[in-house]
Amino acid sequence: MKIFVTGGAGFIGSNFIRYVLETRKDFSIVNYDKLTYAGNLANLELVARNPNYQFVRGDICDAAAVEAAMCDCDAVIHFAAESHVDRSIYEPAPVIQTNVTGTFVLLEVARKILVSRFVHVSTDEVYGDIPEGAFADENFPLQPSSPYSASKAASDLLVRSYVRTYGFPAVITRSSNNYGSYQFPEKFVPLMITNALSDKALPVYGDGKQQRDWLHVEDNCRGILAVLERGKIGEVYNIGGPDLVENLSMVQRILQLVGKTESLLSHVQDRPGHDRRYALDCRKIQTELDWRPVITLEEGLRRTIDWYVSAGLWVASVRGGEYLSYCEKYYENRERSLHAIARSSSIASD
Ligand code: NAD
Ligand code: TYD
Repeated sequence: MKIFVTGGAGFIGSNFIRYVLETRKDFSIVNYDKLTYAGNLANLELVARNPNYQFVRGDICDAAAVEAAMCDCDAVIHFAAESHVDRSIYEPAPVIQTNVTGTFVLLEVARKILVSRFVHVSTDEVYGDIPEGAFADENFPLQPSSPYSASKAASDLLVRSYVRTYGFPAVITRSSNNYGSYQFPEKFVPLMITNALSDKALPVYGDGKQQRDWLHVEDNCRGILAVLERGKIGEVYNIGGPDLVENLSMVQRILQLVGKTESLLSHVQDRPGHDRRYALDCRKIQTELDWRPVITLEEGLRRTIDWYVSAGLWVASVRGGEYLSYCEKYYENRERSLHAIARSSSIASD
């Protein structure tokens, strides 16, 4: 099986490529990635010389380049995305371009060259806020809250329409928040770990009582591979972690494991439109594909912290140029940036 992986130089994609090349000796992979600020070939150093691995730099919105690279592949796993909610709030245009238009381009090319399977990697954020006590199954209404989650919901619906209209062989995964090695340190878990390691403040949005369902990336990779190999065409599979945890409690656990005090904890202005709770019902993938998470939060956090401790050079290299100017522009004065957004939205509604 020759798989066309989009966004394989990012966090989940690179973990997935390493996992597949390790466990499926008869698979080969074409990793197609634009190498945005979030894409990093250093994530794939361990497989760069593997004869079953090939890297092609390109944009998923470029139909001709996608077709040239995908032409002899049997299946597609689509990870490529602008994946950060905060960035989607400050600068939504690239998010819509990659996540919606890019997915459309991939669907068109994959339909033309008759791939036998297309796995669209989506997120639990498409369901929006889940009320206390409820758990979203795959039929839960899509009520996205941010430009990021709306773009993912839009792409899910495009995929669904291709299944229905063209008999296109697609399957969708919707996973909860991932954490683990090689995650770009603008996301919650690696940000808190790397800040704690260097005695910087840990910025908790609002009261920190928002709940997330944390999934170790290796559990997600096993789930995605199960969906590729055994998932039923046209279906959606939720992939969730073992526990729901409040953000504040995650930060406290990280501080404790790193050996730092809570004096580093800093409550900052909340994210606009911030979803309070994500909670998934994962019985479908458990019963149909016999998948369940096996890495406990305690073990996963310990392993992740160990990895970031040993990856100082990697962290320093990804935290350079683009990331620093992003932080300067939007995080150095959060109140001003968020006020500017609120003002522009009130101007738009006038
Ligand atoms: P990431 O930001 O770490 O990586 C995204 C990758 O896509 C990068 O390598 C980037 O260079 C590439 N990319 C971006 N735009 C591109 C374009 N136009 N053309 C080609 N490549 C492009 O993201 P991630 O955290 O690994 O997430 C992967 C997928 O999983 C995304 O679709 C995301 O929506 C989904 N997801 C992520 C999480 C999570 O917790 N990280 C949870 C659920 C779902
Ligand atoms: P994030 O990693 O951005 O994932 P998502 O928004 O997709 O769930 O954030 C996870 C949670 O952590 C979310 O509730 C927002 C919160 N958060 C903070 O409190 N501080 C931060 O600096 C970041 C990046 C996130």
